[in-house]
Amino acid sequence: MAKKEFSVTPYEVKGSVDYEKLIKEFGTELIDEKLLKRIKKHTGELHFMLRRKVFFSHRDMNWLLNEYEKGEKFYIYTGRGPSGKMHLGHLLPFLFTKWLQDKFKCKTIIQITDDEKYLFNNKKLEEYTKQGLENIKDIIAVGLNPRLTEIMIDTYNSKTLYNNAIHFAKRLTVSTVKSAFGFNDSFNIGQYFYTSFQAVPAILESVRKGKNVPCLIPLGVDQDPHFRLARDIYPKLGYYKPAIIHSRFLPPLQGTQGKMSSSIAESAIFTTDNKETVKKKVLKYAFSGGRKTLEEHRKYGGNPDIDVSYQYLYQLLEPDDKKIKEIYEEYKSGSLLSGELKLIMIEKANKFLEKHQKARDKAEKIIDKFLIKD
Ligand code: TRP
Repeated sequence: MAKKEFSVTPYEVKGSVDYEKLIKEFGTELIDEKLLKRIKKHTGELHFMLRRKVFFSHRDMNWLLNEYEKGEKFYIYTGRGPSGKMHLGHLLPFLFTKWLQDKFKCKTIIQITDDEKYLFNNKKLEEYTKQGLENIKDIIAVGLNPRLTEIMIDTYNSKTLYNNAIHFAKRLTVSTVKSAFGFNDSFNIGQYFYTSFQAVPAILESVRKGKNVPCLIPLGVDQDPHFRLARDIYPKLGYYKPAIIHSRFLPPLQGTQGKMSSSIAESAIFTTDNKETVKKKVLKYAFSGGRKTLEEHRKYGGNPDIDVSYQYLYQLLEPDDKKIKEIYEEYKSGSLLSGELKLIMIEKANKFLEKHQKARDKAEKIIDKFLIKD
């Protein structure tokens, strides 16, 4: 693979992602200042992930806000494929979802795709379902409101999902799936069918209410291809196209290539890691944008844009704009050293995780409030 090449699909993220190119390739729209202003009009303040373009791209946000301003409330849909434990990167869309839920008081549906992970990987189905229940604790721990949130596990809610998915599947051809995901004839037919399942929650409120309800899907940009298909097909079935808001990936500790993977333990900070583990991982693995020697660093300064510790602070751990700017400038000027930057990040990560882990323990007892019955 040539140096600048990258690819992003739901099933593989490779290379160093150029997000501007991706917007062109996917045909999405940049979140510009005008749209941010429009959102701010309704939310009072902007989430730092919006201010900092962690959520950088969208489809049909202006339409969604037009509807909202006419009095049509929207609901939120997002999801999680329970391939393994959750790491910090997995939390981004959920933290943002919680903010949207609070600001717009919207109903939220979360889909846990144990079936998907089974179809695409090698463990037993039950293990993905179990992992899904573990992941749900992390999702609840971001503070979602049980009165507004429904969590669907695909194998638990298969009746609702299947009865809607068939209408979608009837209009989705094999050749379309092949070109959207790069599948060939050796893929199993469950993999071909799967998008029909992921698409259902995007119209579920409309089905239930018997009238169209706008839907907004916050997601990591790799999931966009599923919903490109959904946006083609749903108008043919009489539904709205879902609106989408896309986030970047939190890079793996080792550097800005691809996205973090839960299958490589050293590449990620897991939500259940203890303080010592976090410290060890960051000191040992976090890619540094610092110079080779102390003298050079003091003289020429570091590069925060490729420094993983800085990126974690910027995208997730340091919401305070003034503080993040200070860190940026001090690192760039060379007065802040790589080791010092790592220590700032470790402290922030551990504070974040301490709070998250407490909430996660409590979540265990209230899971039932979130699960829906089929
Ligand atoms: N396929 C997603 C994953 O592997 C899970 C998912 C289901 C999802 N529905 C979604 C993600 C809606 C974002 C939005 O993680």
